[in-house]
Amino acid sequence: MKPLLIQGGHIIDPSRGIDEIGSLLITEGKISWLGKGKMASPQPDYDVLHAQGLIVCPGFVDLHCHLRQPGFEEKETIATGSQAAARGGFTTICCMPNTNPPLDSRATIDYVKSVAAAEGVVRLLPIGCISKGRKGEELVPMSELASAGVIAYSDDGKPVLNSNLMRQALGYSRVLGLPIIDHSEDTLLTEGGLMNEGIISTRLGLQGIPAAAEEIIVARDLILAHLTEARVHIAHVSTEGSVDLIRRAKEKGIKVTAEVTPHHLTLTEEKVIGYNTKAKVNPPLRTKRDIQALIQGLKENVIDAIATDHAPHTEADKLVDFALAPFGISGFETALGSLLSLVHNGQLTLITLISKLTYEPSKIVGDKYGKLGSLEVGVSADVTIFDPDMEWVVDTKAFASKGKNTPLAGSTLKGKVVATISQGKLVYRDDSITVKES
Ligand code: DOR
Repeated sequence: MKPLLIQGGHIIDPSRGIDEIGSLLITEGKISWLGKGKMASPQPDYDVLHAQGLIVCPGFVDLHCHLRQPGFEEKETIATGSQAAARGGFTTICCMPNTNPPLDSRATIDYVKSVAAAEGVVRLLPIGCISKGRKGEELVPMSELASAGVIAYSDDGKPVLNSNLMRQALGYSRVLGLPIIDHSEDTLLTEGGLMNEGIISTRLGLQGIPAAAEEIIVARDLILAHLTEARVHIAHVSTEGSVDLIRRAKEKGIKVTAEVTPHHLTLTEEKVIGYNTKAKVNPPLRTKRDIQALIQGLKENVIDAIATDHAPHTEADKLVDFALAPFGISGFETALGSLLSLVHNGQLTLITLISKLTYEPSKIVGDKYGKLGSLEVGVSADVTIFDPDMEWVVDTKAFASKGKNTPLAGSTLKGKVVATISQGKLVYRDDSITVKES
């Protein structure tokens, strides 16, 4: 592989406080040099990516996605999911274990890792189940899964309702040094629920999902994390009340981290009007007030990271009655464009946004797989280049993901990934950027 020079871009690396015009060189899969301005005399054998007017930052790290393989390959595969991730600027993706069979054994983790090595284009880190078969009854062999390479445990899509089992899971995870990722949902309160509980659900005649269903489990698991001194990571936080609970827990020193999705930060329950199954997601899209609390949570570091919860489904899955449609939004390829709306309207700084997509999630994953979310010299060259101002229309036919299920289809977004480099390889490139071969 020839050295690749990224010349004259706006480099933002929150892990090291870099925010300047600069250039970086990638040699043998690693960042080998980074400097201010343009490299004065590049060697003739370099490939050169001209990045004037573009943001150059560490590759995005997604703590939460669904790749559907094994078992639901009609919705997504590791190959298509990782290509979609690359188009979205993600160079590390952590996949949830709600596959068939679920990722609750060494064999299933080994399978996912071997498919990812053969067919994936970005780094894939698996998350193992908490309970066998995600049934919430018996713990998985947690130590075996840790040695197989899981980065966390979660029954995502389902909560662990049994508090004693959750206590035990937290206790073991503490010893193993890995977090429990909490799908916070009291399913006794959400049974039959289809969208956020409120005036709109009443008007539409759809059964509501109350904020309390999330907050009850968030509160319980913060209490259990306190008791066990373990690390809990709250997935897809969607309510003002959850933000308040996590804020208070952090103030008390409880080891909690949290993530929020692009859709919960930018879309409200109103998207469901018209019985739009593409806006059916769990937890549901909430209210403007919740969005404001989530943004405030990000700014105050109550919420550490942004994670996509990329949840692809087939057209047929979603082309049914609202009540019958599965929950989920295909999120990789619209994440950056939708999140940049928060920067364009002055609610978040660009540096905070990039930090929440790179440095902050990398701290939650840890250094087990090398340093992620950083452009430090010597680390794996995971780099995302984007144009913050490029306007584009979301055309799901152009998605690499098999999941075309997004309520953003047809909308115009401002900001687009133009190139993604994963472990030194250019894995995605938009035509609007020129790669000059030497
Ligand atoms: O909307 C969702 N879809 N929420 C979840 O928790 C699971 C996910 C899925 O697997 O489709």
